[in-house]
Amino acid sequence: ETVDVSGLHLLPGAIDVHVHFRDPGYTHKEDWESGAAAAAMGGVTTVFEMPNTVPSTSTPEALFDKATIAGSKSCVDFGLYALLGEETLDRVQALADAGANAFKLYMGNTFGNLPSPSTGAMLECFEKAALTGLRVSLHAETASIMARREAALSAAGRTAPLDHILARPEVVAIEAVARAAILAEWTGARIHILHISSSGELRPLAEAKARGVDVTGETCPCYLFLDSSDYERLQGAIRVNPPVREKKDSLGILAALKAGVVDMIATDHAPHTPEEKLRPNIWDVDCGFPGVETQMPLMLTRVAAGDYSIMDYVRMSAGAPARSFGLWPTKGRIAPGAHADIACVDLSRRETIRAADLHSRSRITPFEGTETVGAPVHTLVRGAFVQRDRKLVPGMQGHGRQVTDIQRMPAPAPRNVELSLAHLTGGAP
Ligand code: NCD
Ligand code: ZN
Ligand code: ZN
Repeated sequence: ETVDVSGLHLLPGAIDVHVHFRDPGYTHKEDWESGAAAAAMGGVTTVFEMPNTVPSTSTPEALFDKATIAGSKSCVDFGLYALLGEETLDRVQALADAGANAFKLYMGNTFGNLPSPSTGAMLECFEKAALTGLRVSLHAETASIMARREAALSAAGRTAPLDHILARPEVVAIEAVARAAILAEWTGARIHILHISSSGELRPLAEAKARGVDVTGETCPCYLFLDSSDYERLQGAIRVNPPVREKKDSLGILAALKAGVVDMIATDHAPHTPEEKLRPNIWDVDCGFPGVETQMPLMLTRVAAGDYSIMDYVRMSAGAPARSFGLWPTKGRIAPGAHADIACVDLSRRETIRAADLHSRSRITPFEGTETVGAPVHTLVRGAFVQRDRKLVPGMQGHGRQVTDIQRMPAPAPRNVELSLAHLTGGAP
C-alpha cells in the first residue's frame, strides 16, 4: 500500500499518557473502539489509559481483562495504568508483573471516586512502586469535589461561598506537587504530574527537577488555550477537573512547556455524554471532555502562529512521553516513530473543530468552532494505516497492542536523601 506524502511532514505519532477510555464500565461514554478511533484521527498512535473504570484497574485480573478488551477493539497501541493506593499496597509488584505500564495515584477525589491515600500510605506506595521501575502518575490535587466545583463557579464570576481553599484554589495543587516531589525524592520513585493547570505548580516542579528528582509534568490544551474569561461563553462545556484558571496561568504554563519544565502535552481525554456533563445541578456534574482527537490540530495551530517550533512540538507530544514512560530505551534502537508510528501532517491544512464530527462517543468540546491550522492527514501504527485522508481506515479494531514488549524501565538507583542537606550549607547536590 503506498500513498503520496509529498508536501507533508512525517512526525512521530503522538503518545498521549493521559486518556480515559471508560471500558469496561462506562461504555455509553466511550469504549476502546471509539476512543482509539478518536486517537487515530488525531495522529495519536499510543495512549496510556487510566484506571477509573468499573471495575477499577486495581487487580491483576482487572488488568488482564482490560488488556483483552483493548487488544480486541483498539486500533492504536496502548499502555494501561494500575491503581496505586492503600487498597493496592499488597499487590504493587503483582500489578507490574500482570503488565501494568505505569501507576496512577489519586491525591484528590475525581470522577470514579477512587480513594486517596494518606501521606503515610503514599510514602509506602512510592517505596513499592520505585522497585517496579514504573512511573507513578499523580492527580496532584487535594481539593474536594466541592472545592473544585466552586472554584469553577467563582472563576466564572458568580457568587460561591469561599473558604480558605477556594480563595486560592491553586494552592492545593502547589502543595500536592511539593509533597509528592519530597516523597519521590525520599523513595527514589519516578513520578509524573498530571494536568498542570496553574503557574504556581511550576516552582515546586522546577525545584524538584533541580534536586534530581525523576519527575515529569504534563499539561493539556485546555490549560494553554482557555482561561477564566471563557467561562461565561462556554458555560458547562468548560467544566473540567482541575478547573481552567487565569490568563497568567496559561501564559506561565506555555512558557514552561517551551522551556521543558513542563515536559509534555497530554489530553486528559475524559468523555462524558453532553447530558451528564451539562446537568444543571453543579454538584452532580461529570467533569472533563474528549481531547485526544483535537490535541494535534490545536497544538499545530500554535506552531503556525510561531509560538513554538515543530521540533518543540515533537518533543512535547512524542519524545518526552516516550522517554518518561520507558518507550525510548537507552540503547537508541527504539525511538519515537521507529516502529513506524507516524502522523503524516499537513501543516497548512485548515479545519474547524466541530463536536458533531468527533469520533469519541462524547460529542462535546470547549473548542467548538475553533479554527485550526495543521492536521494529521494519515496515521500509521506499526506501519499500518489506521487513518487515511482524514478518514478512519475500516477493520483496524484489534490492531493495537499493549506496549509492554518495548518498555524498559530499570528500578531507579537508590538515592541518598542526606545529600540534600548539602544544599543547606551551599555544597554541591
Ligand atoms: C476525569 C474523568 O472524567 O475521568 N475528569 C476530568 O475532569 N479530568 C478525571 C480526572 O482526570 O481527574
Ligand atoms: Zn485528574
Ligand atoms: Zn484524567
